[in-house]
Amino acid sequence: MCGIFGYTGKKEAQSLILEGLKRLEYRGYDSSGVAVQNGTHHIFFRKTHGKIRNLEEILKSHPLKGTTAIGHTRWATHGTPNTLNAHPHLDNEGEIAVVHNGIIENYSELKETLKKQGVRFRSQTDTEVVVHLVAKYYRGDLETAVRQALRRIRGTYAIAVISSREPGRIVAAKLDSPLVVGLGREENFLASDVSALLEHTKRVIYVENHEMIVLSKNSVRITDLAGKPIDRKPVTIDWDVSRAKKGGFPHYMLKEIFEQPGIVTAILRERVNASVIRFDELKVAPAEFKKIKKITIIACGTAYHAGLTGKYILESIAGIPVNVDTSSEFRYRNPKVDSGTLVITVSQSGETADTLAGLREAKAKGALTMAICNVLGSSMSREAKGVIYTHAGPEIAVASTKAYTAQLSIFYLFALYLAGIYRTLPSASIRRFLKELFRVPSLMQKVLDDYKRDAKDWESNAHDFNRRYHAQLEKYFSEASHERKRSPNGFFMYLGRGINFPNALEGALKLKEISYIPAEGYAAGEMKHGPIALIDENPWVICLAPRSSIYEKMISNMQEIKARGGILIPIVTEGDKEIHRLKPLYSIEVPRVEEIFSPLVTVIPLQLIAYCVAREFGEDIDQPRNLAKSVTVE
Ligand code: M6R
Repeated sequence: MCGIFGYTGKKEAQSLILEGLKRLEYRGYDSSGVAVQNGTHHIFFRKTHGKIRNLEEILKSHPLKGTTAIGHTRWATHGTPNTLNAHPHLDNEGEIAVVHNGIIENYSELKETLKKQGVRFRSQTDTEVVVHLVAKYYRGDLETAVRQALRRIRGTYAIAVISSREPGRIVAAKLDSPLVVGLGREENFLASDVSALLEHTKRVIYVENHEMIVLSKNSVRITDLAGKPIDRKPVTIDWDVSRAKKGGFPHYMLKEIFEQPGIVTAILRERVNASVIRFDELKVAPAEFKKIKKITIIACGTAYHAGLTGKYILESIAGIPVNVDTSSEFRYRNPKVDSGTLVITVSQSGETADTLAGLREAKAKGALTMAICNVLGSSMSREAKGVIYTHAGPEIAVASTKAYTAQLSIFYLFALYLAGIYRTLPSASIRRFLKELFRVPSLMQKVLDDYKRDAKDWESNAHDFNRRYHAQLEKYFSEASHERKRSPNGFFMYLGRGINFPNALEGALKLKEISYIPAEGYAAGEMKHGPIALIDENPWVICLAPRSSIYEKMISNMQEIKARGGILIPIVTEGDKEIHRLKPLYSIEVPRVEEIFSPLVTVIPLQLIAYCVAREFGEDIDQPRNLAKSVTVE
């Protein structure tokens, strides 16, 4: 959480920092700030609570001049999200400034010691100890002072530090929080994530743990914490900057929902050639997979739901036992994994703290590890033995959508790849599965086309844009959900069975995270064991009921809900007549698709329902309250 951005070069830094922070705003948005060197004895800074637009307003009326600067957008861990606690933090002389992403675990003892030495603290943050330590050790060389300060610190950090006495220089360091250097011509950049750098350069260097960077406009020097130089070749990022922009959509979330069929197609085209599945970057030989007896998948949030779907996919296609855990539970329960286990971490960012810790735990226990992640060069991709990239492009909306369907697509291909290695399926069946899978993006597109039917101008006329879905959702969701929101009994239930059960969890997560309406997902078969007690005229029950081997069971579950006065909103295969007998409030049709691939299609209406409801309420869809895109702290 938190985003940091740094610039040193010939240009005025203020606007570059603001632009960089806007790209990183998804990482945290409760306060922000910028510190600039301007050739005087002091660092000049502006900071404020709230979103970056607040900082932008302040900088308009009180601009900062200077060509070397650091900036920060915060997701509060220690100290309330107010202006005082916003970064940058300065030493008592106002000559050194620090921005930080991470948590300094021993900050209270350091704070007490520093206070006894006469240091005055202004904020409640853990970060402030860093700047005072650097100031304490500063003897005319910022790099040495930062190195000495870091020796006293326990915790996680990506920090950037400037001193008014060392013009044009930024010193940075990393431990367990992401940090990337962007290489320019007579200018260099620092950021928490490559998406903030794409506007300026595609040549980047990923900073590793326990490394320090000294950045000036013409040089980037990497050392370890002892000062030993490190030689690292830059890598070139193939993401296009336009993929990190809204491209005419009112929200990143909607844009990312609409990108999904294209992304799944690109994944399939990239990985499959004449029915041969290839993962060029994987770095794990088929022989190593042959030694594996079981798979454990660990992930958080939406990626966890992808992992749960992955279990159904891997067990039915590759015939291997799969266990799925939330990373935060896995890492603290002495998990039984060993050299016969493949531990797969699933993560959009590749930086989620719990998943990364779980990966390290699995490695320490001798498991074969593999990351399915989206962000190139992320910590997980570097630390796992093998990696498969989802190549979904930058996902900016905090609510994950395209990363999910990209992760599912990789699970399908990986399961078929293992089926080839284990010979659990004959080649003809693998070819048939692939043929069907290639058809799926067009079915996903059909759901989206239905949604945008009659759309004239997406950007300026949201109502036309949503004529079919939105107008009905307005009727069925928004008007009543306005009341529902006021009503303490108002909530949504999502039910699914088999391979669509994880989508029920995902649908509920999407709705609650962007609309703040209580929503829970259940396995439909579990209803009788407790949750059915909740059924009366209050909850709206969204049921995933596409044609499948367990369709009849879903119908029975829906009948049980109807019999108790429940309000049904089923998602069904187009042409389903039987559903009308249940008199649903409204049913959403999706095209017919083979059962195993149905989650890729049925999740789209769930994403759109969450989007429409949140939009109707006027919520901040891309940056929901209290959340951040990558959870890089525990
Ligand atoms: O970057 P990751 O995929 O590891 O992130 C995991 C979760 O934090 C993430 O999926 C979160 O649940 C999203 N906000 C869900 O929309």
